Amino acid sequence: MKTYPEGVMNTKKIVRELKEKEHYFYLQQIDKLEGQYVYCNGRKMINLASYSYLGLLGHPDIDAYAKKAIDDYGTGTHGVRILAGTIPYHTELEKTIADFKHRDDSIVFSSGYTANLATISTLFGRHDAVICDKYDHASIVDGCLLSGAEFVRFNHNDLKNLELRLQQTQKYNSRCVIIDGVYSMDGDIAPIPEIIKLCKQYDTYLFVDEAHSVGVLGKNGTGVEEYFNCYGEIDILMGTLSKVIPSMGGYIAGDSELISHLKHRSRAFVFSAALTPANTAAATASFRVIQNEKWRIKKLNENIEYFIGTLRNLGFNLLDTQTAIIPLIIPEEEKTWQVCRFMQNNDIFVLPVVTPAVPPNTSRLRMNVSAIMTRDDLDNVVNKIKEADKIFKIL
Ligand SMILES: Cc1ncc(COP(=O)(O)O)c(C=O)c1O
Repeated sequence: MKTYPEGVMNTKKIVRELKEKEHYFYLQQIDKLEGQYVYCNGRKMINLASYSYLGLLGHPDIDAYAKKAIDDYGTGTHGVRILAGTIPYHTELEKTIADFKHRDDSIVFSSGYTANLATISTLFGRHDAVICDKYDHASIVDGCLLSGAEFVRFNHNDLKNLELRLQQTQKYNSRCVIIDGVYSMDGDIAPIPEIIKLCKQYDTYLFVDEAHSVGVLGKNGTGVEEYFNCYGEIDILMGTLSKVIPSMGGYIAGDSELISHLKHRSRAFVFSAALTPANTAAATASFRVIQNEKWRIKKLNENIEYFIGTLRNLGFNLLDTQTAIIPLIIPEEEKTWQVCRFMQNNDIFVLPVVTPAVPPNTSRLRMNVSAIMTRDDLDNVVNKIKEADKIFKIL
């Protein structure tokens, strides 16, 4: 029998043990997606694990435009963008994103992960420092490591600690503070106005990942600059096309010089195939739907307020979330698995997050709310959490 490195055998053991205890929730097959519901293991469940915060997946205008793109150009682009891969749908999408984000220009990559990896490692190098919040997404961390820049971290949303890091890194050529607008595990919002002030004071660039803020923050759903009324104050805005936007891909929006540099120098753009016509068209149509159907953002925020308010009144620990990502903290890992099994057995599709993805003693069920959930859906989830509490003592 082939022998693999130790890590491979460890994973095998962990997966086997989780399966034996019925604690294995990963890679479950979703047979059908229907609005706010999923069909899984032969049951119809409320889907609290989707990033479709505005419920755009399956929107007829988005599907129609994606189908038109297939009719026009087929299913692939057969090339990298910089050579023969750019089609009018790409140009249209980049213009749409630039307008949506109030920037000169934008560039799209094959995923949000790639956008972070490529941009950070293209812009910063050996003589620079990248200064990250400890809860930044893995793709930011990987981009920083790949860049070869000094990788410095500050405590989550801690402005004093950030200022200390800025004072400690003055010797580097370029410095960039890199944060998430909304944190993907906790749902809390970065204190962006204060961070902008510090970046100006210490002559440092600011990069914000908007994977979970676009479509959620601001009356028009355009993200952190609208929410904090600080248009043009952030140097680099990153977003994904795979969450609120029901497609695939990631983007950077910024000044034209910056975008042109990335289009000619970032290896993940120059050496990797263009987004497919259907993905690209779906993304463009989605930005239009967000702008035309403002009721979705309003409804999402009503649902967020109702769900968070109800659970907090009952005494549950949701950390400092104010957004569509709502962590139900169950400090003991074993109990988190048990409550998750209980919820799924009761037709609530929710998933556990445990260490090392989150700090020790903060295991949680991560619940994502969407604009298309009804009051009944949310009340049903709250009732199941109350039932779970009676059995497992979550409070
Ligand atoms: C904050 C954040 N940034 C980037 C990404 C990566 O985006 P994508 O899934 O499009 O690769 C994610 C995905 O989970 C994310 O949560």
